[in-house]
Amino acid sequence: MTTNSVILGTGSVIPEMRIPNSHFESHEFYDRSGVRIEKINAEILEKLQSITGIRERRYVPFDQDSIQIMTDTSRLAVDDAGLDVNELSGIIVAHNAGNMVPQTNAFHTVPNLAASLKNALNCTNHECFAYDVLFGCPGWLQGVIQAHQTIRCGDGRHILVAGLEVASRMLDPHDVDSMILADGCGACVVSKSDGDATGIVSYSTFSHGQDDNRIIYLGESNKKGVEGSCYFHMNGREVYKYATKWVPRVIKDALDKANVGIGEVDIFLFHQANAKMLCAIAKNLAEIYGVPEDTFAGKIPSTIEFLGNTSVATIPTMLDLIRREKLDRFRILDGQVSVMASVGAGMHCNALVYQF
Ligand SMILES: CC(C)(COP(=O)(O)OP(=O)(O)OC[C@H]1O[C@@H](n2cnc3c(N)ncnc32)[C@H](O)[C@@H]1OP(=O)(O)O)[C@@H](O)C(=O)NCCC(=O)NCCS
Repeated sequence: MTTNSVILGTGSVIPEMRIPNSHFESHEFYDRSGVRIEKINAEILEKLQSITGIRERRYVPFDQDSIQIMTDTSRLAVDDAGLDVNELSGIIVAHNAGNMVPQTNAFHTVPNLAASLKNALNCTNHECFAYDVLFGCPGWLQGVIQAHQTIRCGDGRHILVAGLEVASRMLDPHDVDSMILADGCGACVVSKSDGDATGIVSYSTFSHGQDDNRIIYLGESNKKGVEGSCYFHMNGREVYKYATKWVPRVIKDALDKANVGIGEVDIFLFHQANAKMLCAIAKNLAEIYGVPEDTFAGKIPSTIEFLGNTSVATIPTMLDLIRREKLDRFRILDGQVSVMASVGAGMHCNALVYQF
């Protein structure tokens, strides 16, 4: 294995505001054609929990923008890396909609979030670039891949990559799928490594925008007459079909490039969309390799139960929690091989093989 960039530090912030499933007990739910869902809410919530595994999720308070959580997270990652912000050669922020405007459901992408982060961190190094990645849930992983490519080209030494999601401001209170999404932020510093034994080994990215690109989209509320046209929606069944088909394939592509067998992987950090989908991805991955499903027993950590689907923030948050020994008994030991893989709006999916 050869590599030349490592994750030097990580950070994450989990918003304090807990939203249990009971929060949605009195919501009126409608389907996408605008017809009221007759099932009683207790049954809807039970179904939600049984499909997704989600018991609660976290939201950023309505009177805050997205900058604070992104800045706090990034400071943790830069400190963990033992760096000063002015040592950064680049800042990449992956997100879905820009900066949320306090007390409203509006969001802004000008200036871009990486510029706002650079400003908030007081990074005065004018050679440190600052740009955003819009790539749905796989955006943070794609940012890490771009940081790695930049380092390989000799254009940077330390690159901060943040994954920010404040989905709570885009949720349609009348769509059951809105209960899946949540807020959070995770970040890491990708740095040029001095040795070649650890770090990013290989990666793969697939994009299927040429197919149905309205599987995950922003649109009007499911309830007719409700104001606004920027509510987050998905065609859940199509998301499920896409993810269970393509995520195992993109993982295999990345592992093949690294010449690493599935049995050599110690831990899988998967995008946490829902528990049922995670199981199906693992099952299909086992099938592709012709190995028993229990090959992955104890190797797939999960945060979905208590964090929900935090989209682009999911993998960096999970990685940080594990590195800080805050996620159950999961630990990452030196020399262990991990696969990080994500999937989301576009549709896109990606995978990265990383040796710690
Ligand atoms: C939810 C999902 C498993 C259902 O797919 P499916 O098996 O094809 O079946 P349906 O769409 O008919 O839904 C099955 C049942 O679950 C219910 N359901 C679907 N989504 C739900 C939700 N978010 N909350 C509560 N109930 C839900 C349906 O109402 C239906 O109930 P019924 O059996 O009483 O009629 C599938 O759409 C899924 O996992 N989608 C992925 C969504 C996701 O995680 N997106 C993240 C994007 S990164």
